[in-house]
Amino acid sequence: MTAAQLIVPDECHLISLDSVGSTNEEAKALAQSGAEAGTVVWAREQTAGKGRHGRSWTSPRGNLYLSIVQRPNCRLADAPQMGFVTGVALADALQWLTNVPIALKWPNDLMIDGKKASGILLESAADAKGRLDWLVIGVGVNVESFPTDLPDVTSLREAGATVSIEGLLSVFLERLFWHADEWQRTGFRATRRRWLSFALPKGTEMRVRLPDGELFGRFSSIDKRGSLLLDTDRGKKRIDVGDVFPLSPPHKEAR
Ligand code: BTN
Repeated sequence: MTAAQLIVPDECHLISLDSVGSTNEEAKALAQSGAEAGTVVWAREQTAGKGRHGRSWTSPRGNLYLSIVQRPNCRLADAPQMGFVTGVALADALQWLTNVPIALKWPNDLMIDGKKASGILLESAADAKGRLDWLVIGVGVNVESFPTDLPDVTSLREAGATVSIEGLLSVFLERLFWHADEWQRTGFRATRRRWLSFALPKGTEMRVRLPDGELFGRFSSIDKRGSLLLDTDRGKKRIDVGDVFPLSPPHKEAR
């Protein structure tokens, strides 16, 4: 799709900015001051884009940067499942709009030919009863460009896809609200099945960087809560937090 028409779902309140530090920071401030679920902050560029684990996210014009405020009725511990919902919605949108060979890598990365093209950053807060108060889902997609100082990253353009930001945003938001509604109504089972249908092939060799070390193994699955299941020489391991680097091929680290 190359048309520049932006159509957003009825339940979405879109705040469109030219330039901002971080759409996640804007969305968090709005969420903390009571913004309703469905508030979306979209910016043409970010000057202080944030990645996972305190990393930065290079955010020049030409790529997609948005953050969505959600208030799902769930336990704080289940909020990361919305990361899988978001990955599925993005994969779904890109499969609809392009012919590029996409794959989801645990927990939240979208890969094209072994290179990262998109990342998702979830931030959340609990209410006084320990239930989820708000969730901000930050999504960055390399549409036109990617940081050349990082290994194993790519853009839709490099992969041969011509996509307008407005077209991608429209289809992605439509899919996201649909998949989020399904998850909220029926639980994680359908999301898990959909996520696995887009996942890297079972058996993909990978290194997993853990908070306290690293593990090597082969991708097996994700469990019913979203933890990574890895087949290692010492049996199956369940991983809740980590960064995954596929080894077959390429061998270098993506961010
Ligand atoms: C990752 O490290 O893979 C997550 C990257 C998330 C980047 C997006 S861009 C829009 C939103 N605003 C931010 O500051 N970060 C997220």
